[in-house]
Amino acid sequence: MRLPIYMDYQATTPVDPRVVESMLPFFTENFGNPASRQHRFGWVTEEAVESARALIARSLGAEPREIIFTSGATESNNLALKGTGEALRQKGNHIVTVQTEHRSVLDPVRKLEKLGFQVTFLEVDEQGILDPDRLRAALTPKTILVSVMFANNEIGTIQDIRSIGTICRENGILFHTDATQAAGKLPIDVQESKVDLLSCSAHKIYGPKGIGALYVRSSNPRVKLAPQMDGGGHERGIRSGTLNVAGIVGFAKAMELSIHSMNEESKRLTVLRDKMLNAVRAQLDDICLNGHPTSRLPNNLNISFLGVEDNALMMSMKDVAVSTGSACSTADPEPSHVLKALRLRPERLHSAIRFSIGRFTTGEEVDYVVARVVESVNTLRKLMPPSRSSRTRVRDEATIGRGI
Ligand SMILES: Cc1ncc(COP(=O)(O)O)c(C=O)c1O
Repeated sequence: MRLPIYMDYQATTPVDPRVVESMLPFFTENFGNPASRQHRFGWVTEEAVESARALIARSLGAEPREIIFTSGATESNNLALKGTGEALRQKGNHIVTVQTEHRSVLDPVRKLEKLGFQVTFLEVDEQGILDPDRLRAALTPKTILVSVMFANNEIGTIQDIRSIGTICRENGILFHTDATQAAGKLPIDVQESKVDLLSCSAHKIYGPKGIGALYVRSSNPRVKLAPQMDGGGHERGIRSGTLNVAGIVGFAKAMELSIHSMNEESKRLTVLRDKMLNAVRAQLDDICLNGHPTSRLPNNLNISFLGVEDNALMMSMKDVAVSTGSACSTADPEPSHVLKALRLRPERLHSAIRFSIGRFTTGEEVDYVVARVVESVNTLRKLMPPSRSSRTRVRDEATIGRGI
C-alpha cells in the first residue's frame, strides 16, 4: 500500500492508463485539425472526434449532434445557463435553481441576476433532497429554465431527476442538470428523464482535465442557445475554438470504461463505503452522516465528527487526502454553502469531512484510513477545551446513515 492515500476522487481522478494510451497518437502522428476538411490529417482527427461524440451521446441516450464539446463542466454550465438566458430573454426572465448547486451554476445565475433576470434559489431538506412540489410551486409564467444538479459533489445526494424533468416538461420549461458527478457512475437517459441540457466532465471519470461536454436537446423541444464563445463556428456555431482532439478521444475512452464497469464498480464502491462508515461508527461516538442515507452516490461519504474541527482533523492525517468541502472552496474558511443549505447546527457544519473513493481504492486503504481517522479524532477530542468537546449525543443524527 502506497502513502499518501487518495480519497478525494470527487475533486478529480487519476487518468486511467488505458485512457492515456488511447490519447497518445493524437499528440503526435494524428495531430491534424478536425476542421481541416481539405486533407487526410484533418479527416483522421475528424473521424476520431465523431466516433467519440457518438459514444458520449450513446452513454446519455442522446444523438451525436446533440453533444457540444467544451473545456469542462464549468464551461458547460456557463453555456447552458447564460446561453439559454440570452436566447430566451424575450420569452421570460425567471430561472429556478437550488441552493446546493456547484458554484459553476450559482455564479452564472448570479451574473444573470445582475443583468435583470430573477432567480429563485430553492431550499433542500436536511439530507439535501429537493422536494418536487417545492419546485412546482416556484414556477411562474416567466420561468424559462430550471437547473438542478443530478448528484451533489459534497454530500453525494442524488436528486429525483425524472420527477423534476417531468414537471419542467409539463410546464414547457427547459431543464438543465449538472451531471458532473453522476455521468459514468449512474445510469443516465436524457429521454426518460426529460432532460434538455446536461453538463459533464472527463476528469471525474478517469479522463483528462480540460475537456467536457454539454448535451443540448435538438428536438421536442429544440433548445436554442446563444453561443458564449464566438469565432470559427465550431460545434455547430455553439462553441467556437479548435477542438481538443486528444482530450475528446480520452473523454470517450474514459466514458466507455466507466459505463462498461458501472454496475460492478458501483457495487464494489458501495461495499467499501459502507464498510468504512460502519467501522467508523463502531469505534467512534458522536458522528453524523451528511447527505441522504440511500439516495446517494456509491463513492461518497460525508461525515461530521462532532467536537473536532474539520481542518484540524484533515491536518492531523497528512497521509490521507480528503476534503472539507468542494475542492474549489477549500481556501475559504467559511463552512461550505452546501452544508449550510442543509441547515445543520454549527458544530456539525465545522466538523465535516468528505471521503470520496474510486476505481483504485482498495479494502486495505479503507482499513488504513479508518484507523487514522479514529486515532486522530480521539486525540483531537482529548485536546479540545471542555467547551468545545461538551458534545451532546444526538441519537437521531447519529443514526441517519444506518441504512446505507
Ligand atoms: C458538480 C460539479 N459541477 C461542476 C464542476 C466543475 O467541473 P470542471 O472541473 O470540469 O469545470 C464540478 C467539479 O468540481 C462538480 O463537481
